[in-house]
Amino acid sequence: MPESASAIWEPFGEADGEPVFSYRLTGTGGLQVEILNYGCIIRRMMVPDAQGQMRDVVLGFDHLEPYLMNPAYFGCIVGRCANRIACGRFTLDGQEYRLSQNDAPNHLHGGFRGFSRRVWHPVSLAPGKEPSVAFSYRSPDGEEGYPGTLSVIARFTVKKENALEITLRAVTSRPTIVNLTHHSYFNFKDGGISSILDHHIRIEADAFTPVGPTLIPTGDIFPVQRTPFDFRHLQPIGTRIGEADEQLQLAGGYDHNFVLRGQPGTLRRAATVVEPCSGIAMELFTTAPGLQFYTGNFLDGSLRGKQSTIYHKHAGFCLEPQHFPDSPNHPHFPPVVLRPGQEYRSQIIFKFAAKRPE
Ligand code: GLA
Repeated sequence: MPESASAIWEPFGEADGEPVFSYRLTGTGGLQVEILNYGCIIRRMMVPDAQGQMRDVVLGFDHLEPYLMNPAYFGCIVGRCANRIACGRFTLDGQEYRLSQNDAPNHLHGGFRGFSRRVWHPVSLAPGKEPSVAFSYRSPDGEEGYPGTLSVIARFTVKKENALEITLRAVTSRPTIVNLTHHSYFNFKDGGISSILDHHIRIEADAFTPVGPTLIPTGDIFPVQRTPFDFRHLQPIGTRIGEADEQLQLAGGYDHNFVLRGQPGTLRRAATVVEPCSGIAMELFTTAPGLQFYTGNFLDGSLRGKQSTIYHKHAGFCLEPQHFPDSPNHPHFPPVVLRPGQEYRSQIIFKFAAKRPE
């Protein structure tokens, strides 16, 4: 286990004719995170388990090439708007905009080349007790159909307490919509060799937003009580995933937005995950109003990842703090509009510990 924190970088290839680097932040508690300036992808997250052994807890690839398209969105920052927008359409200040329909008929995760498929500009690398790295991306007016030039900064900091903090900020030149998130797939047991269904999870939500056939929210806000979406107490992810529940069947598992308890904009606990074999536990804190819980339902064995691991269905789970999907088309969802003079801010903290389930 390292005694001192560090922040170092090394070349990791080239994309769009620009160099890509891998930035490694090591905290005093042992947590080590490697981030690319391509898509702000976290390609490795080394966490000590209950025996003190370091384990890589995120899915991904060994080389840059497969990250360039990254169809499953492993580890990246997703934007300009994470998740789905129905038929790629929304109206802002009376004007209709059309976004690219890259997940026909919908818009998904910022389009064909969202922020996850762009080279970001490294703006600072700070060693010190809590090492950090920050990247910026300037999204031009009209990119993937979005109005306004959006300037984004993503900062990653490894805190003393084995926590990774991600702060996302953005400003715009014209009114636009913004919903950024981070999209790591976690597997605390074996990095994605086997499924995550035995991980225990608790989600701090009393309600969720059910979806229709193309995974667009119906607009309803349903209580989780007496449904397989009730994760108010720690329980295995897989306990009810196979039930003949319409919502689970539509998504092939969990792929739903949970309405987080508490005031959006304030940092509060959103979820806790514990894996009994490794003893690794993670708490997630965020300022976002919602949390997309996704159980890797689209992983189908076609992606060969780190050390040739084949990622099968449910090989990883994502916890994506974000605004509710399709918010621009549901006026009663918390708004995602950003105007000139305002700053978009979102904070995500993944805090690790090694312990046995309670
Ligand atoms: C999110 C979505 C899923 C899927 C994945 C990427 O989690 O909610 O439906 O698109 O991203 O494969």
